[in-house]
Amino acid sequence: MLALRVEPGFTKCLAMELDSDSVSALGKRAAAFGDRALVLRGDCNLDLVGAMENHLPKTAPVFALLDPEGTELHWRTVEAVARFRRGPRKTELLILLATSFLDRMLPLNAEVEDRNVDALNRVFPTPAWQGIRERKRAHEITSEQGREAQMESYAAWLRNELGYEFVRTRPVSRSGSSASVYHLIFASDHEAGERIMDYVFRTMHPNEPNLRLPGLLD
Ligand SMILES: C[S@@+](CC[C@H](N)C(=O)[O-])C[C@H]1O[C@@H](n2cnc3c(N)ncnc32)[C@H](O)[C@@H]1O
Repeated sequence: MLALRVEPGFTKCLAMELDSDSVSALGKRAAAFGDRALVLRGDCNLDLVGAMENHLPKTAPVFALLDPEGTELHWRTVEAVARFRRGPRKTELLILLATSFLDRMLPLNAEVEDRNVDALNRVFPTPAWQGIRERKRAHEITSEQGREAQMESYAAWLRNELGYEFVRTRPVSRSGSSASVYHLIFASDHEAGERIMDYVFRTMHPNEPNLRLPGLLD
């Protein structure tokens, strides 16, 4: 809804969500925006890039917000969304990763469950998490440093594997705590994107990252 209401406006907003009730609720709210809004039910790892191919021009600037709850967002999807755009600049990405899942999935005093290994290997392109877990087990780094190290790896993959020019990460914590729960990750090939997100990441309140743009949520 923020993307639909912001001005200057996006030409087209494509939203994809797995849960049918959420699709129907968002579809009703977005109906007033006519064919600028397209709300689709789908699995982002299977259906998103196909939907982009069908509904978005490949040569226009594209901004993708990827907002998983846990480990649903596969690296292959990030890679395919990034490469969707034709021309010198890739899709701009803003990813909100709930990095607290790393501690839950990687116990230090027990074996890591196979399903968690599989899930992490879908979210990240290399098993860097193994080395980070080992350093935590050896008390070389704290959990917070472990999450930071994982995000540094993610940023490095965006830069080196996908070739993004500007990549920024920003921890987000819960109110009353300094421990990070989420990390925002931004990637762009445009200097304006870097400038805007530098400002946002610098000035946003760490516990209240949503910019309440006046009038937008009335
Ligand atoms: C953190 S919420 C996103 C909320 C939304 N961005 C918002 O601001 O209201 C994550 C959403 O991802 C959906 N989801 C989970 N797995 C998905 C998948 N594979 N494809 C598409 N959506 C998925 C969940 O149903 C959930 O609504």
